[in-house]
Amino acid sequence: MPRREDVHYFGAGPAPLPTSVLEEAAKVLLNYNDSGIGITEISHRSPEANAILAHAQDALRQLLDIPNGDGPEGYQILFLQGGGSGEFSAVVYNLVSVWLAKRAKGIVDDETKLADEVAKLRLDYLVTGSWSLKASQEAARLIGKEHVNIVTDSRQHRDGKVGVIPSAETYKPSTTAADVALTYYCDNETVDGVEFQGTPDGENLVADMSSNFLSRRVDVRKHIAIFGGAQKNIGTTGITIAIISNKILPPHAAMADSVLMRKLGLSVGPVVLDYPTVAKNNSLYNTLPIFDVWIAGRVMQRLLDASEGQTPRIATQQAESDKKAKDLYAVLDGSDVYTVVPDKSVRSRMNLCFRIKGGDADAEKAFLKGAESRGLFGLKGHRSVGGIRASNYNAVSVAAVEKLIQYMKDFADGKA
Ligand SMILES: Cc1ncc(COP(=O)(O)O)c(C=O)c1O
Repeated sequence: MPRREDVHYFGAGPAPLPTSVLEEAAKVLLNYNDSGIGITEISHRSPEANAILAHAQDALRQLLDIPNGDGPEGYQILFLQGGGSGEFSAVVYNLVSVWLAKRAKGIVDDETKLADEVAKLRLDYLVTGSWSLKASQEAARLIGKEHVNIVTDSRQHRDGKVGVIPSAETYKPSTTAADVALTYYCDNETVDGVEFQGTPDGENLVADMSSNFLSRRVDVRKHIAIFGGAQKNIGTTGITIAIISNKILPPHAAMADSVLMRKLGLSVGPVVLDYPTVAKNNSLYNTLPIFDVWIAGRVMQRLLDASEGQTPRIATQQAESDKKAKDLYAVLDGSDVYTVVPDKSVRSRMNLCFRIKGGDADAEKAFLKGAESRGLFGLKGHRSVGGIRASNYNAVSVAAVEKLIQYMKDFADGKA
């Protein structure tokens, strides 16, 4: 049986967690804080659970320099369930509701005027890979495709394939900013290995950061909402973190009345995805998996411990992530055996997608087999695109990357 220390896992999510956190987790599962009760057995409303939640929120605030306070400039940190996919729907429900509340002011009894206003509703999507495409499709499913404006579709800029982020000059945002309930982008496309190199512009900006959360600085203030599933860089599957601007929460914004929403043919979301409800209850509207929050808190505490004196505190992790990715790409660029799939200008630091011998099925099989014989697992590309994908998440150690680099060199030289 292989030992944990002999295996390195490069899967795209769920992904590795620091061994020290898992060792501690094994203990608290049986007995949390010498209470004799395991952490999954305590109430989510207990003082212990409250402390775990407060710690995780505080750690995230420090790492990403998230503005605090109740004013319109502040942000709330919410823990939700339903994964990244749940947030594809949640951002639509919430931001359409906020949009309608504003637009219906003073005309709630005038059906013709209301219908005219709703006809103008737009949700702007930047489609740069599989996950942003899925999110735009969910928006169309929920409110109708006539309301969804595709600002850019990278496939139209690269022979029908994703792998670039078109320049902003080619974007086609909705013409009237006030009609835009949200502008959506996926910061890192996990399947396609494409990452934004800077924050795009857009009215009511929403970002999916599921696969590069906590790997670099984030310009939080440019966003109205940021979300990410925990199961890659932050923790265990089961919680989703959302950073929500106070500007879209009461008392700074109102939500539209659900009766009015339904009357106008707009979807009303489940209460567990309703940001004002979750925020008002400090993420404890319903039972929160506190163990998952604890894991996320421990992972974030490690990042804080390693980054004393840095501003923002995530800078230390960013330097490590950048270096690991740079070293891996150097090997890929240094041999004709490998071809990186996305364009050089948008290469992801988190998910490195490449082909071997131009996508030769036998060569790719041999690469994967040889990798496994050296304890390097999880390198197969997503089933929809094939090829090889090395995920370089935070808990993938420098030593693991060095082993992969050595293997890639040996394979290219015919020594593996
Ligand atoms: C960027 C991105 N967004 C969304 C999702 C969907 O997340 P979930 O499976 O938690 O719904 C994923 C899953 O891998 C992802 O990588």
